[in-house]
Amino acid sequence: MRAIVMREFGGPEVLQLEDVNDPEPGRGQILLDVRLAGVNYADVHVRGNTYLAPVELPYIPGNEVVGVTPNGKRVVALTQGGGYAEKVAVHRMLNWEIPDDVSDEQAVPLALQGNSAWHLLFTVAQITKGEKVVIPAAAGGVGSLAVQLANRAGATVIALASTPEKRELALELGAAAAVDSSDEEGLAERIRDAAGGDVQAALEMTGGPTLHETLNALAPRGRLAVYGFASGRLTDVPIHTLLEKSITVSGFWLPRLYADRNLPLKASMKSLFDAVGNGSLKMVHGGTYPLADAAKAHNSLNSRTGTGKFSLDTTK
Ligand SMILES: NC(=O)c1ccc[n+]([C@@H]2O[C@H](COP(=O)([O-])OP(=O)(O)OC[C@H]3O[C@@H](n4cnc5c(N)ncnc54)[C@H](OP(=O)(O)O)[C@@H]3O)[C@@H](O)[C@H]2O)c1
Repeated sequence: MRAIVMREFGGPEVLQLEDVNDPEPGRGQILLDVRLAGVNYADVHVRGNTYLAPVELPYIPGNEVVGVTPNGKRVVALTQGGGYAEKVAVHRMLNWEIPDDVSDEQAVPLALQGNSAWHLLFTVAQITKGEKVVIPAAAGGVGSLAVQLANRAGATVIALASTPEKRELALELGAAAAVDSSDEEGLAERIRDAAGGDVQAALEMTGGPTLHETLNALAPRGRLAVYGFASGRLTDVPIHTLLEKSITVSGFWLPRLYADRNLPLKASMKSLFDAVGNGSLKMVHGGTYPLADAAKAHNSLNSRTGTGKFSLDTTK
């Protein structure tokens, strides 16, 4: 099969197309014919060997796919690597049949970015109607879905984004206000101005000063859900602020839900499929590239200019 193989860590140029053996499904796994492979910011971290789980080379990146099962079902699936390929072995509990009213392109962001947005808002931050919530990178993959899900749940969304075009998109998706996040200094003040006061909840995925500014915009008893460090800057949380304002800070990494016997992903996938099917959750398409052009998709994510979901068409 054709696959994108990394033989070293580095820039987008390490993503090379090769002919490799088909994967052998292990215990509890099935083999999928991949149609679309989702590209995620985590793949950018993995390419530079800076993510949470270290990987061994050679490595085929890609953690979410749309594909077809051996018995002909169209599914969306979560993988732990291996997605940028014509075939991938997936666990039988980590793939979900796609309803007829949801297209492949609509389905591809749902397993990783959709589930992340859903659980960050409803499992971790536990947002409720009428609360003000900050959503960063609001025109990005996770962010564009989180804005819509939070808005649908009756929260007031304060979107963060680095360019006027991205902020315009966040407003179109349902944000009540959109704040420039390109300058970290004074971000807390700009969030408060936009929200008309402190916010009750915030998602955070940039790290460094942005984390501290977001924390400072929280009301007493506010909740901060931390799920990334796109800037590469990991930072400490000031315990004094947490105690004094009675703030809850939670970390979130989606793979920690994969083996949960209560099947939280089954419930969120159903909710996401229903929302796409009834038109209340729209996909923002960043671009679909032929498999061989994985490096171009990574360049788009790196450059911070794109919006929405990037994917690879493994049939081209
Ligand atoms: N913990 C989890 O389980 C989990 C799951 C999924 C995603 N994530 C994290 O969620 C974040 C979004 O992921 P995604 O795949 O949906 O990507 P994305 O939002 O489509 O793209 C990344 C966005 O990050 C923002 N950004 C901020 N600082 C950046 C920097 N220094 N360099 C590049 N981009 C920067 C950019 O938006 P602006 O230009 O508007 O700032 C950019 O569009 C990532 O941090 C990812 O690691 C975590």
